[in-house]
Amino acid sequence: MKRKLALIGFGTVGQGLCEILIDKKRYLKRFHDFDWEVVAICDTLNGSVLSHEGLNVKKLLHLVKNNISLEEIDAKGKLKKGLDAFQTIRESNADIICELTYTNLKTGQPAIDHCITALELGKHVVTSNKGPAALRYNELNELARQKGVRFLIEGTVMSGTPVLNLVRNELVGNKISAMQGILNGTTNFILTNMESGHSYKSILKEAQELGYAEADPTADVEGLDTLAKITILANVIFGENLKPDQIPCKGITQITHEDIKQAQQEKKRWKLIGEIIKNKKGITASVKPKKVDLSHPLASVMGVANAITFTTDLLGDVTIMGAGAGRKETGFSILSDILEIHKNF
Ligand SMILES: NC(=O)c1ccc[n+]([C@@H]2O[C@H](COP(=O)([O-])OP(=O)(O)OC[C@H]3O[C@@H](n4cnc5c(N)ncnc54)[C@H](OP(=O)(O)O)[C@@H]3O)[C@@H](O)[C@H]2O)c1
Repeated sequence: MKRKLALIGFGTVGQGLCEILIDKKRYLKRFHDFDWEVVAICDTLNGSVLSHEGLNVKKLLHLVKNNISLEEIDAKGKLKKGLDAFQTIRESNADIICELTYTNLKTGQPAIDHCITALELGKHVVTSNKGPAALRYNELNELARQKGVRFLIEGTVMSGTPVLNLVRNELVGNKISAMQGILNGTTNFILTNMESGHSYKSILKEAQELGYAEADPTADVEGLDTLAKITILANVIFGENLKPDQIPCKGITQITHEDIKQAQQEKKRWKLIGEIIKNKKGITASVKPKKVDLSHPLASVMGVANAITFTTDLLGDVTIMGAGAGRKETGFSILSDILEIHKNF
């Protein structure tokens, strides 16, 4: 049986996912008994196509690379074109919807409604979009449970570097009493380079030129991106029902060269740390710049890398470090969730 996938959003992550699915098709079939078909892609920039018999993904990738609308594809069988996201979710025969549109941290829309529409129809949802995950995780997860499907969000924290699946699978049985993470590559890149004497402004400009930072860097430098991820971790791992505005958040814009030099003298390093601590009363969560001792694993996380340290009862501290963004990296996060569904359903 082939898993039928529909992609809502066909930008960096959607294309990255499709490249991996094509490259690893034989491996996935042989070692995971997993075969796939993409039955719909809907993208406001690149066009929308749907075929119940499956689409030629190689051809679609070729079109999009050449800035040609997906709707220019010639296909055998019935091909529907120009559907919006909701029509695509409703009319496609996909059993897994990959929600890969832009992140809106204020309202989570339209992605939240995409997820609800899919889940109501009994379709699994996999997403790297932080909006639905940070703002409405519990509700969407409960809806999925009622419908007998999954709402999986590995890619929302540290892209494909396993965090949520790590806790769910490999760390199962451990009690986690705290976690501390560097969860935003842009701010870590800025802090790393400020150590070699560059000004905050010039490093931010470089980060924008390299594509690490958005033209409007507010979500990164004010800590809001880390805040969304800490909210997700608190709700998914600790079973809380927190909203981002309930967690104190401070970014890195106030860090000066003097602060950096002072930390160096103390054998410490400034990092933007998202932290959750569980105590008898419940949990406390925060996002703020912290001076981390050079002996701590997080102090050696430099540039755009991300990392998280879990404090567990059975293993002590466990740190995982890896990519926090990227085409293949985040595409992989979607594949890992799809495989999690495949294994269990
Ligand atoms: N790229 C990464 O490394 C990374 C890492 C972790 C998480 N994420 C998250 O993953 C999601 C996808 O990221 P991305 O990098 O692939 O973004 P992207 O390159 O901007 O692609 C998103 C695509 O979705 C389309 N879109 C927006 N609204 C839509 C709608 N209502 N219906 C259909 N298509 C719509 C966009 O078209 P328009 O241009 O017309 O809006 C765009 O082509 C985002 O939420 C992002 O925050 C990304």
